[in-house]
Amino acid sequence: MSKRISIYRKEHFNAAHRLNSDLLSAEENARVFGKCNYPNYHGHNYELIIKVTGEVNPVTGYMIDMKVLSDMVKAEVIEKFDHKNLNLDTNEFKNLNPTAENIAMVIYDKLRSKLESTYDLKVILYETERNYVEYPA
Ligand code: NI
Repeated sequence: MSKRISIYRKEHFNAAHRLNSDLLSAEENARVFGKCNYPNYHGHNYELIIKVTGEVNPVTGYMIDMKVLSDMVKAEVIEKFDHKNLNLDTNEFKNLNPTAENIAMVIYDKLRSKLESTYDLKVILYETERNYVEYPA
């Protein structure tokens, strides 16, 4: 019988952003992104859920050490993005529109590169209580 199991780690960060595409006119940006296009930025309270799936180690009974995972999420994501202006203060979004979709993909890539390949990874990011994305789909 498979001993695969999933664990979830919840984290939280606050960050400011502005959604804008250089490929669109000012009018198109305003229409597509609405309030998120306002020029002087605005904040979101991002809720982040990291899902890791793998086999339970029969010796430890652990699938992954939660402390190791939480330290990884803090170092790779929270310390880089919390209380930052994503457009201005981070290299990741200097040339990438900081939509929830793109933020989730960036976070996934960061953690994927640190996690052993035997683990499956999923990132769920809430931009508001009602709007959230999941990557990979
Ligand atoms: Ni916004």
